[in-house]
Amino acid sequence: MAIPKAHYSLAILVVLFAVSSSQKVCNPECKAKEPFHCDKTVAFNRTSFPKNFTFGAATSAYQIEGAAHRALNGWDYFTHRYPEKVPDRSSGDLACDSYDLYKDDVKLLKRMNVQAYRLSIAWSRVLPKGRLIGGVDENGITYYNNLINELKANDVRRRIWWLLKPTYSDYTNYAELLFQRFGDRVKFWITLNQPFSLATKGYGDGSYPPGRCTDCEFGGDSGTEPYIVAHHQLLAHAQAVSLYRKRYQKFQGGKIGTTLIGRWFTPLDENSNLDKAAAKRAFDFFVGWFMDPLVYGEYPKIMREMVGDRLPTFTPHESALVKGSLDFLGLNYYVTQYATDAPPPTEPSAITDPRVTLGCLGERLTMVHGNLDDGGDDNGGLGAPSSLKILPPTSNDISASSFSWSLSNHHYNGGSGVADLDLGNVTLPVALADNGRIQNHCSHLSCLKCAIEDGCNVAGYFAWSLMDNYEFGNGYTLRFGMNWVNFTNPADRKEKASGKWFSKFIAK
Ligand SMILES: *[C@@H]1O[C@H](CO)[C@@H](O)[C@H](O)[C@H]1NC(C)=O
Ligand SMILES: *[C@@H]1O[C@H](CO)[C@@H](O)[C@H](O)[C@H]1NC(C)=O
Ligand SMILES: *[C@@H]1O[C@H](CO)[C@@H](O)[C@H](O)[C@H]1NC(C)=O
Ligand SMILES: *[C@@H]1O[C@H](CO)[C@@H](O)[C@H](O)[C@H]1NC(C)=O
Repeated sequence: MAIPKAHYSLAILVVLFAVSSSQKVCNPECKAKEPFHCDKTVAFNRTSFPKNFTFGAATSAYQIEGAAHRALNGWDYFTHRYPEKVPDRSSGDLACDSYDLYKDDVKLLKRMNVQAYRLSIAWSRVLPKGRLIGGVDENGITYYNNLINELKANDVRRRIWWLLKPTYSDYTNYAELLFQRFGDRVKFWITLNQPFSLATKGYGDGSYPPGRCTDCEFGGDSGTEPYIVAHHQLLAHAQAVSLYRKRYQKFQGGKIGTTLIGRWFTPLDENSNLDKAAAKRAFDFFVGWFMDPLVYGEYPKIMREMVGDRLPTFTPHESALVKGSLDFLGLNYYVTQYATDAPPPTEPSAITDPRVTLGCLGERLTMVHGNLDDGGDDNGGLGAPSSLKILPPTSNDISASSFSWSLSNHHYNGGSGVADLDLGNVTLPVALADNGRIQNHCSHLSCLKCAIEDGCNVAGYFAWSLMDNYEFGNGYTLRFGMNWVNFTNPADRKEKASGKWFSKFIAK
């Protein structure tokens, strides 16, 4: 079958590390305790972390660059065709105008003292027709070369991710183009960013491009397409990794891995076996869906049983290709959620197949969603995260979620952050006084510190995000940045309290 038009992502991270093989299991005793006095950088700062730990900040192409001088991509079509799917009916047409203002972006990074930058490359900017055969846009290549060189000149290491189109052979071509053009300066490549989100939002509930689902206007099948798309993303990733390892890794000396969104789930009722099973199931459907193939070469047993023949299978050759296709794992972590058992869905859908209802820690009463996709990857699932108490993971969560996979490689916290709601009624002084964001990042960092002390091999932390940007399905109403951006005049950027705190935290 033809794969519906998709966007995949691929990323690059430039940090140079040796691989070690620490396998110690984390100690579940170590938990970050409230209140986190995290603004006191005299007490807690980078010296609490290993010397070789990397502090960075992250953005993504569509969310910051603006659409100028590139071909249209899935998000352009989607935001223009369905403005009602975004609360402020906005698009990423201008966003932070980083196409024109990339030097200002680098200045913000310098001011924050970060050592590395995780950015992404827009597929549509370098391959306007989506495929090599349609030609390379050398202006797009020049834009990224300028950006990479500007980072290099400022001693900021680079990590990049990008968007992709129809089939995975195109993806491999795309990946190869980037290895060829940027691989001399980019040492960490991330193939996919949150493949879960494309599968479940693009093809499960239709809330992301290409907007497909059962009963969606553009067609789709929520019971099958998310699994097919996830399958193809895994194969695309594995082919890109195989290519890199065969032709580029030796002389370019980089590493290649992927980034998953990794929530942790905890039973709503700790005494209920049903809820305990639901929490485990949620994790298998959320993280195991991708992690099991990458580590074991097959989908989790529970998924195979529950999804049945709607779940694609790997041929022996594919299984071998996917298994072990990671030099490191990036983990985007935002929130831990309660899980409770839900009844079987009335019709097959990747959204409801896990039979789990999720809610947020601190908000047990908001358990009203009957499915795995509760409306947000990044804000704990609620539209107004500022009203929400979002707890960081405990070190136990971190160990169980990302480190029990026995990978002998490094793990990066690929993105972590919290959003403030801004419906246009937030004054600048209020927006800049983002103490909640300081507490959020700082508590995550204190948990990471515990995890490292327990023997977890965590190599770095990339704050999401460098600056306020276009938050996909939430438009400009959610601000995740450590720097404030005026979206009517994106050159107007101001440091928030969290940016000041982070730069002090990291300063040597
Ligand atoms: C960083 O924290 C340590 C204690 O962990 C403290 O001794 C040191 O002075 C702090 N550094 C700065 C610059 O505040
Ligand atoms: C802005 O308006 C929203 C919706 O009415 C409200 O929930 C929020 O508290 C307001 N924010 C401020 C800072 O007044
Ligand atoms: C950092 O150094 C420690 C101790 O030498 C080592 O075990 C660890 O693997 C290093 N981490 C990275 C990311 O290189
Ligand atoms: C944002 O920029 C516009 C245009 O320059 C300006 O009129 C407005 O006052 C700015 N907003 C804030 C909050 O500074």
